[in-house]
Amino acid sequence: MKSLRIGVPSKGRLAETAEKLLQEAGLHFRRQPRSLFARCREMPIEVTFLRTDDIPVLCAEGAIDMGISGGDLVEESQVDVTERLALGMGNCSLSLCVPEDSPIQHARDLAGCRVATSFPRVTRAYLKEHQTDVHLVNLSGSVEIMISLGVADAIVDLVETGSTLAANKLRVLEQIGSYETVLIQNPNCEQLALADRVARRLEGVVIARGYSLLEYNVPVERLKEAEEVTPGYNSPTVNSLEDPHWKAVRVMVKRGEVIAIMEKLEALGASAILETPIRNCRL
Ligand code: PRP
Repeated sequence: MKSLRIGVPSKGRLAETAEKLLQEAGLHFRRQPRSLFARCREMPIEVTFLRTDDIPVLCAEGAIDMGISGGDLVEESQVDVTERLALGMGNCSLSLCVPEDSPIQHARDLAGCRVATSFPRVTRAYLKEHQTDVHLVNLSGSVEIMISLGVADAIVDLVETGSTLAANKLRVLEQIGSYETVLIQNPNCEQLALADRVARRLEGVVIARGYSLLEYNVPVERLKEAEEVTPGYNSPTVNSLEDPHWKAVRVMVKRGEVIAIMEKLEALGASAILETPIRNCRL
């Protein structure tokens, strides 16, 4: 059987998280020092370690069947790949930024100015939409220092926590787009069954990471209200207890909302409220 080739970031902030995700999805491989290839133990899958920004192009060209890269890089590359799955990590925005003390209020105020970026296509398209003609300074990195170097009046760069902007005394003028890490696929991939299996496996882990399992007991007369607080992914599982006045509920809850939901359930008279993390799932 022909192998499925997956491109994975070789270094940078995505490398570790992408590898962890694949391992958690049961795609185990060992990366040997200095080797750019690894084989998965349990499936005919070949992992190729590549530069994150080359992955969209190499996927479109068919050098790899699938790849993990930033949604921002996929958009900037403007190549023909299918986005299979948002991976729920690497969230960031691409923003037009100016010095904190700049009087500039809108993108259109930048007409005739110099804008430094490593996202020239997305930047050009955005400024064209705003009928703003600028001089683009096209760089491959360290864009955040270009205003202080006197090379640019504004920059277009990724913002994740905002600490790079703060350290360079910059502020966001306008947000151009928001992105996350994505799984992409070559539209002519021949290993479709394997590609679907990989996507389903990763999806199981991605959904599981976003949810917890909540279990609680609730007085029968408050069950309806409790179900409104915790409607679940599909619907909650409700079981009877020995005591006919109580019901036991099991339900998936968005991880970021667990604590607020626990408080609401407690206020409804629920007890024995337990949160369990979910490691993997198929829904
Ligand atoms: C990105 C981006 C910013 C920084 C933003 O750089 O270019 O510099 O992250 O993150 P923050 O808002 O959390 O500070 P990255 O570290 O990916 O390296 P690069 O500059 O080489 O692109």
